[in-house]
Amino acid sequence: MSRVDNLKKIIKRLTGALLAFLALLIVIFIIHCINVGRYNSEWRIITSDSSSTQILVDVHPRGGVTDSWVKTNTGLGTSLNAKIYEMVVTNNSHYYVDDWQIRFNVTDKCYLNNGWCGTFEIHQFDRAGTETSQTLDLRNFDNRDIYLFNYLAGQDLLIPLDYGDYFIYHPDTSPASGEVPIKGSEDMSGSSVCGIIMYSLTGEVNLLDYELSYKLHRGLWDGTTGRFLIISFTLLALSFIILGTIFLVSVRFESRIISQNKLLADAFRICCAMPDSRDYYSKGHSERVANIARLIAEKMGMDKSDCEIVYNAALFHNVGMVTVNEQILRKKGKLTREEYAEVKKHTIRGAELLKDIENIPHAEEAALYHHERYDGTGYPFGKKEDEIPLIGRIVAVADAYDAMNNDRPYRSKFSRDQIREEFIKNRGTQFDPAIVTAFLDVMGERNL
Ligand SMILES: [Fe+2]
Repeated sequence: MSRVDNLKKIIKRLTGALLAFLALLIVIFIIHCINVGRYNSEWRIITSDSSSTQILVDVHPRGGVTDSWVKTNTGLGTSLNAKIYEMVVTNNSHYYVDDWQIRFNVTDKCYLNNGWCGTFEIHQFDRAGTETSQTLDLRNFDNRDIYLFNYLAGQDLLIPLDYGDYFIYHPDTSPASGEVPIKGSEDMSGSSVCGIIMYSLTGEVNLLDYELSYKLHRGLWDGTTGRFLIISFTLLALSFIILGTIFLVSVRFESRIISQNKLLADAFRICCAMPDSRDYYSKGHSERVANIARLIAEKMGMDKSDCEIVYNAALFHNVGMVTVNEQILRKKGKLTREEYAEVKKHTIRGAELLKDIENIPHAEEAALYHHERYDGTGYPFGKKEDEIPLIGRIVAVADAYDAMNNDRPYRSKFSRDQIREEFIKNRGTQFDPAIVTAFLDVMGERNL
């Protein structure tokens, strides 16, 4: 397996792991969204009896000289004292107060007159306990639309309230009012200030029985889980970008290698076709021998890269033939002793041509030793058994098979059975027995 294949395999595994992590993050994100949604929609309550360090409520009468006055023409047969009360809601929590409202329970007889900037949801109960309620913007009303019990003292609206009645202040939600939302402590703590004008006989109205309801807004990326998610998603995105880039580069590199290999293969074929082309009976011989040699190597259990080395080396086994006189190669009759000696030189001359070619391993040996015989009676050196390099012994078998399997000027090609018989007969004399065994298996399996 090539380095590019290994890299692609690693990228595939890493992508699988990252996708699994992404799926896990998505599940965590969904659960986190549900939790944040629940947190943000929950109404929290502070009453005048409970205290909170995070959300503070302060209701008090304003102390300026213009903040209280006496109203004489009330239409009630008595004058009333008016006073402005200030209500401050301060947010010291980490999150925004996204929505809020405050309920005041009335404890003494009084009259609600006005306020800013929101609306008042007022609940009156008559002596029979029947409730009447209405939500009003006291700065902007038409008294014909008011069905709460009320007085109109000049321009002033007086809504009488007594023990048991209550009103709820809803803040103005327009951004300009600044009443909602109220910033949290991370943004310098915000507060909302509202005013209420109350009338009473004494000028003192008890507004200290209240109940503040509020919602906090927690952002999706706030808190430990939010920060974990944003860091994880960012790292994941970076990992995908890096892996994608490496994959694209490896694909481009691989396509370049493939095209270079094709170019090399073409060049090899041309080189090997040259010696074969000089003799009509040898056309395609080198490539056929190389294919058979590779099948033998595979059968012998060599790994893929070694099988390719055997194939490429075998392609060049007869390259020395280019130096042999063409008249000898094309001669129909029997060769003279001198002519045969000339042909035999193709082994040494081929090795000479290949000796400096480092990138085709064992090609020199394939050229030099493919006519040696296992019993030491071959040429050019008469080497025997393991003295003959393995590539020489493999190519010898493949070369002999191709010779027997093709017509010659002086004979027809051998039958399949004749070829088998020849190999069995010459096992241990001309050929390495182990290689013959491997080749006969190949013949059987591939129906050669
Ligand atoms: Fe040869």
